[in-house]
Amino acid sequence: MDKIDKTINEAKQGEALVLENQSGESSKKLYLESYGCAMNFSDSEVVASILSENGYTTTRNIEESDLILLNTCSIRDKAEQTVRKRLTTFKKMKKSKPGLMVGVLGCMAERLKAALLEEEKLVDLVVGPDAYRDLPNLLHQTEGGQKSVNVLLSREETYADISPVRLDNTGVTAFVSITRGCDNMCSFCVVPFTRGRERSRNPLTIVAEARDLFERGYREVTLLGQNVDSYRWNMSSKGEIKDETIPTTNFAQLMEMVGLINPKLRVRFSTSHPKDMGDDVLEVIAKYENICNYIHLPVQSGNSEILKKMNRGYTREWYLNRIAAIHRILPEATISTDLIIGFCGETEEQHQETLSLMEEVKFSFAYMYKYSERPKTLAERKYEDNVPEEIKQRRLTEIIEMQHKHQLEYHEKEIGKTYEVLVEKVSKKSEQEYMGRNSQSSTCIFPKGEYNIGDYVMVKIVDFTKTTLIAELV
Ligand code: SAH
Ligand code: SF4
Ligand code: F3S
Repeated sequence: MDKIDKTINEAKQGEALVLENQSGESSKKLYLESYGCAMNFSDSEVVASILSENGYTTTRNIEESDLILLNTCSIRDKAEQTVRKRLTTFKKMKKSKPGLMVGVLGCMAERLKAALLEEEKLVDLVVGPDAYRDLPNLLHQTEGGQKSVNVLLSREETYADISPVRLDNTGVTAFVSITRGCDNMCSFCVVPFTRGRERSRNPLTIVAEARDLFERGYREVTLLGQNVDSYRWNMSSKGEIKDETIPTTNFAQLMEMVGLINPKLRVRFSTSHPKDMGDDVLEVIAKYENICNYIHLPVQSGNSEILKKMNRGYTREWYLNRIAAIHRILPEATISTDLIIGFCGETEEQHQETLSLMEEVKFSFAYMYKYSERPKTLAERKYEDNVPEEIKQRRLTEIIEMQHKHQLEYHEKEIGKTYEVLVEKVSKKSEQEYMGRNSQSSTCIFPKGEYNIGDYVMVKIVDFTKTTLIAELV
């Protein structure tokens, strides 16, 4: 599952994120655990930054924490169940450690609001994704024995001026948030409710953050948004210029600006939306070596009728046209996707169309899910979640098996090819090997040689598994 590390659906779920105490002074200890997509992980870095200015350092050791924060996800029911289980564990800890505070951040906080305090009695603090600047103030209230809630969504907040504290320990790859929220209203999706309206971040602050990362030794940034292609600065959604005195910026232009920082800084981005991904974006990728040849383009379903019910804004034909554009402009690129099976009323024939689309595109990777009905979404209000669980399970198994077959076929074809990979970390399986990815985002394992983490290395593919390419140094 290494590839999961670097896409928007990422999330080594529930990972504790740590900022070492650089000052050596005694301070309050924060244990911060994150669930969900890369944007949530990125937000946790903003939270750590805000709280580090207010006397907190992060710890990996939950036992020594004074404050536990869970940055939560609501995308599927299972994601919420995982968080609830974690909260039960914390309840026990709270009983044996008076003064320990527990807070819920992120999408579950936004979705359930103050009701979460009722449901989970020992939670002290509920803070939505646009209210993190208020955390010090809310914590102050909580320390005084009050429960506190701030779930106000904003039309402007992008945390543009906050320099996130990097909580990973590799120092090579980092997320940079470029938009927040989502205006698309896909009928199955809770994100527009939990993250609010879409807004773009000032491009100058994005470039400054990426440049700073490069100067600190980072070699890869992933630009993050629910729909990066709809990034727009100083433009309304209709394309009207807001302020004549400053330039407008669209996603293709933003990517070029980040790509130009340094040829040794790789640029990735996630997630692309099939309805909005234009050829201009593909042409910028083609123009710069350091903008990676990898596109995560969630299709969700291969059937146009289901896509319409999902309110995705494109048909099967449109999606395949975008795939053809990628092949034409970026012949070396790999394409991955997200798929949902068992959406309301999905027939066997419609499911077969998802399988046939997979056969046609042959994705290099896919995140595959059973439809999970979410409260308040259009689908919940309008359609019946009527595909029986055993059929959902069978369909899911079918797409997983097909995907694995495609991955093996793809990996087999990679044998003998030579790639430049960026060394990210020591391999999990062997101290003698590194893990790195090529431009196409394939995970490669290869001998360490004389190289260091953060170096670019030429490797030749000699073997493979379902998820990984095995390589030797050249
Ligand atoms: N903005 C991205 C997706 C973010 S959510 C996009 O539009 O592509 C990540 C993935 O979770 C989605 O692509 C979808 O495949 C899945 N997902 C979202 N809501 C879901 C639901 N209710 N049930 C099952 N899967 C869901
Ligand atoms: Fe959800 Fe659709 Fe927005 Fe993606 S584009 S976050 S699936 S509403
Ligand atoms: Fe992300 Fe989950 Fe929220 S996928 S935007 S953390 S609902």
